[in-house]
Amino acid sequence: MKAAAIQDVKKFAIIDIPKPTPDNSKVIIEIIKTGICGSDIHNWVAGNPKGLVMGHEFTGKVIDKGSRIDLNIGDRVTALPISPCGHCEACESGNMQYCSETWTHAIGLSLDNPGGLTDTIAVRPDMVLKLPDNVTDEEGAMIEPTAVGLHAIHLADIKVGDKVLIVGGGIIGLVSAMFAKLEGAEYVAISETNIARGKKSVTLNVADEFFDAKDPNFIKNIYTKVPKGFDKVIDCSGNSKAVESGLMSVKVGGTIVLVGVSSKPIEFLSVLAVMKELTIKGAIAYTKEEFKKCIELIANKKIDVMKFVDDIVPLEDTQKAYERLTNGIDDAVKILVDPKK
Ligand SMILES: NC(=O)c1ccc[n+]([C@@H]2O[C@H](COP(=O)([O-])OP(=O)(O)OC[C@H]3O[C@@H](n4cnc5c(N)ncnc54)[C@H](O)[C@@H]3O)[C@@H](O)[C@H]2O)c1
Ligand SMILES: [Zn+2]
Ligand SMILES: [Zn+2]
Repeated sequence: MKAAAIQDVKKFAIIDIPKPTPDNSKVIIEIIKTGICGSDIHNWVAGNPKGLVMGHEFTGKVIDKGSRIDLNIGDRVTALPISPCGHCEACESGNMQYCSETWTHAIGLSLDNPGGLTDTIAVRPDMVLKLPDNVTDEEGAMIEPTAVGLHAIHLADIKVGDKVLIVGGGIIGLVSAMFAKLEGAEYVAISETNIARGKKSVTLNVADEFFDAKDPNFIKNIYTKVPKGFDKVIDCSGNSKAVESGLMSVKVGGTIVLVGVSSKPIEFLSVLAVMKELTIKGAIAYTKEEFKKCIELIANKKIDVMKFVDDIVPLEDTQKAYERLTNGIDDAVKILVDPKK
């Protein structure tokens, strides 16, 4: 079957890979839609690992239920793409997101478990979740990034009336902004280097204001608007400049949550954190409860994730979609791939 695999720096190749065969263990899922994530973009930019078939945000149809006797052939499902061990301290505390095994065999993020940029995948039974009828195929592919935002917001511990800055208006930033409002934030701003994305965050009504991170007066502009600084900052960019801008914008005694990931060392003036007695937290993925909560919120129409979907493209256009998401001027934040298109 056809798959889009990393071939080189910023380059996909459409290759042929074996279709998974039912073996009564894994759930075999035919992909309906799969999302492109900012983390996938890091791999594509690096051109590594070569041969990786990405796509860890997906909706599919069960074609073999493996050990999941509760499922039916044809059921629409999604899954947590992770591979926690299930018995370490992290797993037993309900925090399998930081189990040391969680990413080793993750779907679409490890060479031994191809993701949704193909026709059919095999998924660990305990990670598969059935989608309610009122969650569409497209919404199903949006659950994973939505859960990332929900987890970040839980860690930020937003209080009613808080002023919150989200650094980076990609999909993770937009979803985090949406949840910050739902948690009761009085004012939510997004800073962006991509002006089109920044403006869109306001048009989509998830942010009250956009700050141009490239403006020489960027930090001054923030303090003009929020003189005491932000109560909470969530970095959804993952680079030194972004993190430092967050540290400069957060108020004394405030909290900054780091969601953005970087393969390079992050440099920032640590004296900012020292002098303000900041709390700096990392946020990785989500708990299973948060993932399920996102399904529920979408099913009950409490959140609208479809407003973030810009396009749905065939597998052959994966390369073009990645280029569009990284050109720095386009306002697109989320593109889904439909391998059947
Ligand atoms: N911790 C986790 O569990 C987790 C999960 C998913 C994604 N991520 C990471 O979160 C980040 C965001 O994901 P995404 O899918 O939204 O990615 P994305 O690449 O679409 O968005 C990042 C945005 O940050 C903006 N940006 C870059 N430098 C900036 C700066 N100095 N100031 C303000 N904005 C700046 C970019 O223009 C871009 O729009 C990525 O690093 C991704 O790898 C982390
Ligand atoms: Zn993702
Ligand atoms: Zn574990």
